[in-house]
Amino acid sequence: MFPSINPTTTQAWEKLTQHYAQIKDSHLKEAFAQDPQRFEKFSVTFENILLDYSKNRITPETQQLLISLAEECGLKEAIEAMFAGEIINFTEGRSVLHVALRNQSNTPVLVDGKDVMPEVNRVLAQVETFSNAVINGDWKGYTGKSIDTIVNIGIGGSDLGPVMVTEALKSYQKPNITTYFVSNVDATHIAETLKKINPETTLFMIASKTFTTQETMTNALSARSWFLENAKDEEHIKKHFVALSTNAKAVAEFGIDTQNMFEFWDWVGGRYSLWSAIGLSIACTVGYENFRELLAGAHAMDTHFREAPFEQNLPVILALLGIWYNNFFDAQSHALLPYDQYMHRFAAYFQQGDMESNGKYVDRNGQKVNYQTGPIIWGEPGTNGQHAFYQLIHQGTKLIPCDFLAPAISHNPLGDHHPKLMANFFAQTEALMNGKTEAEVVAEMQKAGTSEEEINTLKAFKVFEGNRPTNSILFKQLDPRTLGSLLAMYEHKIFVQGVIWNVYSFDQWGVELGKQLAKQILPELTSSEEVTSHDSSTNGLIKQFKAFRQE
Ligand code: F6P
Repeated sequence: MFPSINPTTTQAWEKLTQHYAQIKDSHLKEAFAQDPQRFEKFSVTFENILLDYSKNRITPETQQLLISLAEECGLKEAIEAMFAGEIINFTEGRSVLHVALRNQSNTPVLVDGKDVMPEVNRVLAQVETFSNAVINGDWKGYTGKSIDTIVNIGIGGSDLGPVMVTEALKSYQKPNITTYFVSNVDATHIAETLKKINPETTLFMIASKTFTTQETMTNALSARSWFLENAKDEEHIKKHFVALSTNAKAVAEFGIDTQNMFEFWDWVGGRYSLWSAIGLSIACTVGYENFRELLAGAHAMDTHFREAPFEQNLPVILALLGIWYNNFFDAQSHALLPYDQYMHRFAAYFQQGDMESNGKYVDRNGQKVNYQTGPIIWGEPGTNGQHAFYQLIHQGTKLIPCDFLAPAISHNPLGDHHPKLMANFFAQTEALMNGKTEAEVVAEMQKAGTSEEEINTLKAFKVFEGNRPTNSILFKQLDPRTLGSLLAMYEHKIFVQGVIWNVYSFDQWGVELGKQLAKQILPELTSSEEVTSHDSSTNGLIKQFKAFRQE
């Protein structure tokens, strides 16, 4: 196991604190003016991905100190511990081996002394055979028709990853397959989906690691009832329901033939599971060959992460920059801004990936931390975000580090859309960095013939301080391999930050309390007794809820 160190007690942290005091007021614009090589110094490529991090409030010294912090916190040992299958998810007693799911070099990966690769490859082969049968029309429904609709029922990690990837790879979608995702326990989600589909040609994938999650089981049972109302015979279930799970017993109890179960293992975290059998909806939507490419791209990033020196290591660079802003500049959030409509669920996906992993106030020693851990992750695709919340990023009182992501080549080369989109990308990062001085504002207004009086009234509002940090992640095209690499890059970024913040990134105890209480409250909502067991607010709300329903 790697060491458990309070990062604020390291020498590097102390030096970073002093260094921050020295450079906090310096402006990025000056840094660029002083060093024409700044882009070359602070950018790195990996395959078809360029990470330009030069528009960050750093100097070469900042980078060296941040790397020292990573070293003092035992990052090298931590990376090796993960790849070696050590029980780094300590509070759940599990290894963390999503990297094994995409280990295309096929070297053995040991859990408790047993190589997991044969099992990984067995399930991959099952995914291949099944997805080919669905896409080729060989998998028939109960009336002999081929499947043309997939409904994935899952939530959290059993939903967000497949949704995000199938959206991101929509241009690779098989024309004969339409895929829906149902996650919310709100009946509207399943009801609206059922309105659109035909039971004879629909395949339901019940995606749940535990196969006990309330939302998923409720939706799955409703889908099953709807299906049986039409198909009449339980015998037909096996042609229309498959399970993606680690829990064979619960799958069998639900009535799904375990022949139609796609297995994964407890060393796959829910929010890291799209690479596992949870990816079946991806393979059936874009084809197994594209799913494999996705895995290959992730594997290439895994190798880079494990082997590249920290100063050239994309996940490590991103993680250290995040720590710099989170812990020294007191930034509270981090925006993910893809300039690609296909990536419209990217930020939502990493909200879970990051916030469920590093949203923790207890360190690996069981002590409350005395420093900030995971940031709030948010974002929307550009240019929509520009017309919504960029105002605050440019002129608000909060520092919001942003990642801008974009492909150089669009899958839809229509007219001049893509150059226009990219002109906005480049303009935004430049504007955030440079800002606009009062002198520039005045000169611009004078040129436009504005009166002196009006200039004096308005100039303060038109000044941009600038100095707002961004990373630019520019890639050739959003293909499955590149997407796989980008996803693995962010996964490892989150891992690195968790190591340095000294938290357990692979558990999620914080979601349990709400689940437990909801179970207690559920029977109270249908009982005729007045509810008095809670605080006055909760009691009052429940009372009014019942009253509204009786009116
Ligand atoms: O929200 C908590 C959580 O455990 C997530 O970590 C997980 O992705 C999600 O629930 C779904 O869990 P399951 O796949 O077991 O249904």
